Amino acid sequence: MSDSTQRVAIVTGASRGIGRAIALRLADPNRANRHVVLASRTEGPLNDLKTQIEAAGGKASVLAVDVADPKALQAAVDSVADKLGRLDILVNNAGITKDGLALRMSDEDWDVVLDTNLKSAFVATRAAARHMMRGKFGRIVNIASTSGVVGNAGQANYAAAKAGMIGLSKTIAKELGGKGITCNAIAPGFITTDMTHNLPQQVKDDLQKFIAVRRLGTPEDIAAAVEYVTSDDAGFLSGQCIVVDGGMTMA
Ligand code: NAI
Repeated sequence: MSDSTQRVAIVTGASRGIGRAIALRLADPNRANRHVVLASRTEGPLNDLKTQIEAAGGKASVLAVDVADPKALQAAVDSVADKLGRLDILVNNAGITKDGLALRMSDEDWDVVLDTNLKSAFVATRAAARHMMRGKFGRIVNIASTSGVVGNAGQANYAAAKAGMIGLSKTIAKELGGKGITCNAIAPGFITTDMTHNLPQQVKDDLQKFIAVRRLGTPEDIAAAVEYVTSDDAGFLSGQCIVVDGGMTMA
């Protein structure tokens, strides 16, 4: 594809972990070859990633935005389409945890997780879809979690947000399918990133007994799924929640 037709993808939470792996995979000129807009709260780590992508022959831009700020997020998505002339792919990956048993969970911990993980996906999707409709093509992927599929003690806020992303994905798929836009959720199981770094080793070892492939996942395992779901070839795949958990839940 020439520069003017190269598909543009926004990946939120691209500074590290799963989002970083997705960005690297989508920008890889030997794979998806997208112009990837790296979005996260602060620019520093994103600039390093941009340099790495460009050194490998790919294209990337940096977008500092707090996804929990709806006005800023809306403006940020619009600015990408304005500057690059198109917007084809949105990966709503940014997310946080504030774990605790439901009976002791504060309203603040509920709200910040719902705003950061779920409302942001809605706001970014609403903004992005308008630009995708103009191009009659769109791929929206919401990074959910197996917690949102089967629940998880200590994660009422997080599981509710992730289950919400799955419902959001199915609804957007129905509303925008006729416009060439697909929307899917990907639900990772346990993936080795900063988010799961603090789990005690014993817990990680125990977990593996419940995972069919007998290992925790890597960010690249999720990035590989995102690459396919956002590809031009995946136009008949929509409204799904694809669980990528090594066969842990088989829900
Ligand atoms: P991480 O904590 O390593 O990275 C999260 C990313 O989101 C960072 O780039 C961070 O800067 C960004 N972010 C957080 N709040 C933000 C905000 N308000 N505005 C902009 N950016 C913000 O997390 P990880 O593990 O890479 O997770 C990525 C996604 O995958 C999250 O949505 C998470 O819920 C989901 N997930 C992770 C699993 C795991 O085992 N690591 C399992 C299932 C789902």
